[in-house]
Amino acid sequence: MTSGGPTTVSLVGSTGSIGTQTIEVIRTDPDRYRVVALGARASVEALAEQARELRPEVVAVADPAAAAELGGRLPAGTELRAGPEALAAIAAEAEVTVNAVVGFAGLPVTLAALRGGRRLALANKESLIAGGPVVRQARAEGGGEILPVDSEHCAVHQCLRSSRSGADEVARIVLTASGGPFRGRTLAELAEVTVADALAHPTWKMGPKITVDSSTLMNKGLEVIEAHELFDVDYGRIEVVIHPQSIVHSMVEFTDGATVAQLSMPDMRLPISYALAYPDRWPSPYGRIDWSRLSRLDFEAPDTSVFRCLALAYEAGRAGGSAPAWLNAANEVAVAAFLAGSLGWAGIGEVVEEALQVHDGAVLADVDAVLEADATARRAAAAAVERRARAA
Ligand SMILES: NC(=O)c1ccc[n+]([C@@H]2O[C@H](COP(=O)([O-])OP(=O)(O)OC[C@H]3O[C@@H](n4cnc5c(N)ncnc54)[C@H](OP(=O)(O)O)[C@@H]3O)[C@@H](O)[C@H]2O)c1
Repeated sequence: MTSGGPTTVSLVGSTGSIGTQTIEVIRTDPDRYRVVALGARASVEALAEQARELRPEVVAVADPAAAAELGGRLPAGTELRAGPEALAAIAAEAEVTVNAVVGFAGLPVTLAALRGGRRLALANKESLIAGGPVVRQARAEGGGEILPVDSEHCAVHQCLRSSRSGADEVARIVLTASGGPFRGRTLAELAEVTVADALAHPTWKMGPKITVDSSTLMNKGLEVIEAHELFDVDYGRIEVVIHPQSIVHSMVEFTDGATVAQLSMPDMRLPISYALAYPDRWPSPYGRIDWSRLSRLDFEAPDTSVFRCLALAYEAGRAGGSAPAWLNAANEVAVAAFLAGSLGWAGIGEVVEEALQVHDGAVLADVDAVLEADATARRAAAAAVERRARAA
């Protein structure tokens, strides 16, 4: 699916927040990129509409029942494929793969793109966190490259371009966090928060899972592990600072004492454009900073006694092996339970902590070991959720 014309793109997770914003970016210059494959889980209506507009060669749907519904609604010349393996297959069929799937389900997409030697524009941080060692191996063996879409890691990637020797000259990576909707609250004040409260993010409009992760600071914890995996910097040199305006997207302090920061409006279309166009810069029609209106930039330390998930992520990252996979899986189970109304907000961190306490310390030698760690951790977390429901 390569061509002498526009760069070909496989967009997996096309129906979500990152997926639809990627299409918005590509729409601004259709001569530059051509979407040849779309993939999602089950959003039939949205996929049919995207296919009518973009005329891809393939549409892949993870859920076979949804695929049956989509059949007959695709334009002539667009092939329909079904099943999770179909999503992985399209990841290796274009020059650039955007992995915008949410959660652990994105792992096969990440692996297929890297094994196929593609550019992977990676929004799906969960695959990197759960499958760190196997993702590293896939990247080394397949020769693929990862361009981070997460705005913080995109910022770090840009900051590192000002250094000749990369990680060796890095004194600290400083990841910024908006602090989410509950910044400054005490645990007592957070005891009764609702799903709607957690979904009301002050600066970013995102899918529900990452929005809840932002409210617990687990998102930042996952990003700490993501930074370690992407930039090969040890945990002692990765810090988090709360920055409520979401204008400074992250910073790198170099060994000579210079700090380089990347600033832009909080708009995911900017990091998406960067990941697609790198090493070029794509002229952006999106918002510019109005310096005359930006009166202040605030920074404060995160409170890990309230936002325990951030501390748990550091612990899991430092423990290494399968601990990050356990952290990620337990968090996915806990967040799903919270969104379904069967677990309180504070229970998310408690469930993750309980799961990590019974973590078996397995080594992630291959993909099967990652799948096994994920499944075992999910069982431990589901049991912890159930215990809470029974006790309530
Ligand atoms: N949104 C943001 O601003 C943002 C910022 C930074 C990083 N990220 C990261 O980007 C990823 C996507 O986030 P999002 O906010 O865009 O999520 P989202 O809006 O919930 O969209 C998720 C996408 O993944 C697909 N999907 C869900 N389960 C799947 C499965 N089992 N197999 C295949 N596809 C599946 C969904 O398809 P259906 O619609 O068919 O269910 C949808 O296309 C996450 O890893 C998130 O952490 C997001």
